[in-house]
Amino acid sequence: MSATLSLQELTDQLKQLEEQASAEIAAAASPAALEALRVALLGKKGRLSGVLGAMGRLPAAERPLVGQRANVLKELVQTQLGERLAGMKGLALAEKLERERLDVTAPSSYIPVGHRHPLITTTEEIVDIFCGLGYRVEEGPEIETDHYNFTALNIPPHHPARDMQDTFYLSEHQLLRTHTSPVQIRHLEKTPPPVRIVAPGRVYRRDAVDATHSPVFHQVEVLAIDEGLDFSHLRGTVTTFLQAFFGDLPVRFRASYFPFTEPSAEVDVRWRGRWLEVMGCGMVDPAVLEGLGLDPERWSGFAAGLGVERFAMVRHGIDDIRRLYTSDLRFLEQF
Ligand code: DAH
Repeated sequence: MSATLSLQELTDQLKQLEEQASAEIAAAASPAALEALRVALLGKKGRLSGVLGAMGRLPAAERPLVGQRANVLKELVQTQLGERLAGMKGLALAEKLERERLDVTAPSSYIPVGHRHPLITTTEEIVDIFCGLGYRVEEGPEIETDHYNFTALNIPPHHPARDMQDTFYLSEHQLLRTHTSPVQIRHLEKTPPPVRIVAPGRVYRRDAVDATHSPVFHQVEVLAIDEGLDFSHLRGTVTTFLQAFFGDLPVRFRASYFPFTEPSAEVDVRWRGRWLEVMGCGMVDPAVLEGLGLDPERWSGFAAGLGVERFAMVRHGIDDIRRLYTSDLRFLEQF
């Protein structure tokens, strides 16, 4: 039997083991290292067992004291191991969260939504109002013959009205249409009256560009042919349309001249303290109906034509027609 061991020596060893264990647990770098430490400290062949193995050399009365002390140590080590492990896991989680951080308040990638151009929405609004009055939409070609653009509209060759609408000729008889009025002729050729149509579209004139002129612009043509139509129908239709578009504003008709209507008028609306000319109109000239083989004694009707740019500019307070063509988003996004 080896030399007796004093209680003091054994408690000192336990105290030392406690200090070492604390330091080693604190220094452990990973959960695996902690597990290895647990085995090395508290396992069957661990260091605590090693110390306690010497307990047999104590007087029997002192053994329970050491056993108690060892249990306290064991619990302390277990607690420290547990806390250290929880600390490691918490840190790992925090790191993971930081790495995978998602800022839900960050602006998403922005895909701008497009919308229709003010000239399109204005055209649609005009056309919609006429559709509500029973009109159908018709279209015609932008490359026209001088027959449809002029002659059939009672503007024979050498008529001075041709100069009012100086145009782009593609060949002797082909040109870019100067107005949407040729759609009246094309439609009546294939459709016997009664007819009620609106014809929106692009038109061309040899105009210099300025704040109110563009060589390419847009019109909407209106045509109604039936039995018994007279000037009061024209006036009522045009007034109803203008009030639907502009609101309940004063409307005035001024006598004017167009080769394809008789009588002819220009229409003004009272807008912001002044009279604004917004469209031309008139009763379809009997000569136009005769040219189509329609009996002017039986059929009569009215026609009107308006510039879409003018309507859009008045509606939105746009000062320069060129803004409508420059595709500047700072301008277009306002509509
Ligand atoms: N076509 C004419 C122009 O471009 C506008 C116009 C006036 C059309 C009178 C019509 C009308 O249908 O009756 O200036």
